[in-house]
Amino acid sequence: AQLALARAEDLILEIPDYPSEGIIFRDITPLIADGDALRATVDAMIAPFAGQFDVVAGLEARGFLFASAAAYTSGAGLMPVRKAGKLPRPAVTVEYSLEYGSAVIEAHGDFPRGTRVLILDDVLATGGTLAAAHDLMEQLGYEVAGTAVLFEIEGLGGREALGDHELHTVFTS
Ligand code: PRP
Ligand code: MG
Repeated sequence: AQLALARAEDLILEIPDYPSEGIIFRDITPLIADGDALRATVDAMIAPFAGQFDVVAGLEARGFLFASAAAYTSGAGLMPVRKAGKLPRPAVTVEYSLEYGSAVIEAHGDFPRGTRVLILDDVLATGGTLAAAHDLMEQLGYEVAGTAVLFEIEGLGGREALGDHELHTVFTS
């Protein structure tokens, strides 16, 4: 499994100046294209939280790729945390700021209060997305059992933005 993980890390491509100049985009499509790398990665994301969560929350869009596999392999439910305007029923909404402008994430409140949620996303950069996800879980009355990302980009203040919330990362820049 360590070998598969080391190989998985090599399958993350660094694309300079995408989507705008000065940004290095982490392209995970080669990693998820590789069955062994995908499995090792999902296993590593959830390993510290075994038995501690009822539901996996995945952040649209790239968080879905890992959350769905994590929920399936651990027998947990799946909660899609969606971007604005995609949910058909009343939802709890959190607005957060981006480098330019703002964004909204939403989820239905279908689980009982106190449900233990593992929050997954692909990348931590400024932490705005994950901080908003924590806010959302709190508003829904859920308990956050943990937070994990595949890749942490250091130096952008992501960990600081998460405050006291613990974060598990598989790879770090
Ligand atoms: C990307 C990435 C993380 C987020 C990290 O999502 O998938 O969710 O940015 O950045 P942050 O820590 O600064 O919030 P994005 O919304 O760009 O696109 P996606 O829909 O492809 O996941
Ligand atoms: Mg995303």
